[in-house]
Amino acid sequence: MIELEDVVFRYDGAKINAIHNVSLTIESNEWVAILGQNGSGKSTLGRLINGLFIPTSGSVKVDGYETIQESSLWEVRRRVGMVFQNPEHQFVATTVRDDLAFGLENRGIERAEMVARIEKYSKQIGIEHLLDKEPHRLSGGQKQRVAIAGIIALEPEFVIFDEATSMLDPIGRQEVLQTMKELHNHGVSIVSITHDMQEAIYANRVIVLKDGQVLKDGSPRQVFQSHDWIKEAGLSVPFSLTLQQELAKQGVMLKQQCLTNEELVNALWISNLTK
Ligand SMILES: Nc1ncnc2c1ncn2[C@@H]1O[C@H](COP(=O)(O)OP(=O)(O)OP(=O)(O)O)[C@@H](O)[C@H]1O
Ligand SMILES: [Mg+2]
Repeated sequence: MIELEDVVFRYDGAKINAIHNVSLTIESNEWVAILGQNGSGKSTLGRLINGLFIPTSGSVKVDGYETIQESSLWEVRRRVGMVFQNPEHQFVATTVRDDLAFGLENRGIERAEMVARIEKYSKQIGIEHLLDKEPHRLSGGQKQRVAIAGIIALEPEFVIFDEATSMLDPIGRQEVLQTMKELHNHGVSIVSITHDMQEAIYANRVIVLKDGQVLKDGSPRQVFQSHDWIKEAGLSVPFSLTLQQELAKQGVMLKQQCLTNEELVNALWISNLTK
């Protein structure tokens, strides 16, 4: 469990707080999407959660380990992995296998266990055919999945994705989103920082930040129930909702709010049949 209590964070020399009085709890097994416009504090929040940053005041605890205590940091980082925007910056070795091994070696994992984990997690993420390839020769989506395998092999409880799909083409994006879904099915908790509304609607919970504070917190359905706040928060309305609004203007009223394109297709199909 991740617990933030009255967290304030101010960068050295900054005049205002990047995070201002944020209190929230993220349970194991959640999939939380963190939304907000540029500069709203999303990345800062991610870095506070895994102990890369220490709060100016307030507390951040992961499974009871408080990040302010030097002795807890190892426990926190073991539990919270991070995948960043640019997959290029996440490789150190010349083959995918060596790269995965390097991360495990760094954590003092024994050789036999290392080999077993590389096999298990490369299969789980679907990159076993890439193990002998050079990371730099892979596609964007493959690179990002290798980076994810490297994090998952350390068996964290939570993985924070900081705009991990934003530099990928649509295929790479889809691959990584699918990987996130599978990880969640395997019991890994996901915190996904994103600008992509289509990605956010797959989460169980959406937290919207504005000026370093929590503006909205709830299920995607609750949070997107009304749209008036979305533009104010500097975000765009999910495509399926926009289309639904336009359809309503044309007199096609659907019974329920459709968040995903699949839901929308199904609802349209039913409404057509019942006409
Ligand atoms: N290294 C830094 N030094 C000073 N201020 C910073 C630093 N990094 C970020 N900030 C400021 O902190 C605030 C929050 O930034 P943060 O990077 O967390 O936002 P973000 O929501 O991740 O934005 P983006 O969508 O652009 O990634 C912004 O006002 C930003 O200008
Ligand atoms: Mg950011």
